[in-house]
Amino acid sequence: MIDFSDPAALSGHTDAERRHDPAVRGFASDNYAGVHPEVLAAIALANGGHQVAYGEDDYTAHLQDVFRRHFGEKAEAYPVFNGTGANVVALQALLPRWGAVVAAESAHINVDEGGAPEKMGGIKLLTVPTPDGKLTPELIDQQAWGFGDEHRAQPLAVSITQSTELGTLYTVEEIRAIVEHAHQLGMLVHVDGSRLANAAASLGVPLRAFTTDVGVDVLSFGGTKNGLLFGECVVVLNPEKVRNIKFLRKTSMQLASKMRFVSVQFEALLTGDLYLRNAGHANAMAARLEAAVRGIDGVTVVRPVQANAVFAILPREVSEWLQKRYRFYFWNEHTGEVRWMCSFDTTEADIDAFAAAIAEEMGRV
Ligand SMILES: Cc1ncc(COP(=O)(O)O)c(C=O)c1O
Repeated sequence: MIDFSDPAALSGHTDAERRHDPAVRGFASDNYAGVHPEVLAAIALANGGHQVAYGEDDYTAHLQDVFRRHFGEKAEAYPVFNGTGANVVALQALLPRWGAVVAAESAHINVDEGGAPEKMGGIKLLTVPTPDGKLTPELIDQQAWGFGDEHRAQPLAVSITQSTELGTLYTVEEIRAIVEHAHQLGMLVHVDGSRLANAAASLGVPLRAFTTDVGVDVLSFGGTKNGLLFGECVVVLNPEKVRNIKFLRKTSMQLASKMRFVSVQFEALLTGDLYLRNAGHANAMAARLEAAVRGIDGVTVVRPVQANAVFAILPREVSEWLQKRYRFYFWNEHTGEVRWMCSFDTTEADIDAFAAAIAEEMGRV
């Protein structure tokens, strides 16, 4: 039994004493990964002593400077517990009680948040099918109508995801065009940036180039998928239009009392280049996986690999055999499409072994 009261025993424990094998990594989700050691060190740094609770601590105060350096002088950062919470808080700030948000059908807010925007935020989602998880001005127009008609929930916000749930990316110009169009229609723009760092790493531009500089109003900035223990941030970029996050965060149950431990993690991620190192590595591992499986007959990569996800179709029984060796999900049970996610701690050896396993299982059909 591990003696948690004895730090020396903790550092000297054997792997047999752990409840999991730290050498095992799969491709199910970037959320399956652990915590980056620099982030763990930051949490330890923030420990000890007393700090004012609920965000009035020194780490959260400093975090404002950290975020302003990335997103410009007007940026305000509001740490929250998770991505669903960040989205629900941010979207509520954009909309009156009769408001609706236009989003891609595949958006996380639509398919993976259990109806939280509707239930917790009272927000109607107006969704549009897209080929690649990306909205365009034309696609937005499919739902941006009926302004002033009290019978229709008012489409007063647009939400896009960067990088998208389908592993694709918006270019800077594509986001600029969406924002311009939305603003012309009187709509505000939210970016679900659960994987914003992966987008910056892949596009090779600063975070602000495709957010602040193109007029995005508010974003959910992700940390958990990029090496944090937990924590995301609502980042207000247009404080004239996006107000009252403080109250919305509290009433949405996203106000952490010990916020210093969320804030210091973001400080570790964003002060140097850890966010880019982690995200760039995850992206590179996805590219390596794509290159490896393209050479395997019977495996088809079905979407552009632009961030840290690979989507593929292969014989269902092969996927099922593989799932006995590696964790990953079917993305679409109907078509048999699977999703393979890479994370900051995926190694080249993991990719090579997984690709070899795919080739081996394909050899059985
Ligand atoms: C695009 C996107 N947005 C937001 C989230 C955050 O969700 P959670 O509430 O699980 O932190 C996720 C997590 O999978 C996601 O993929």
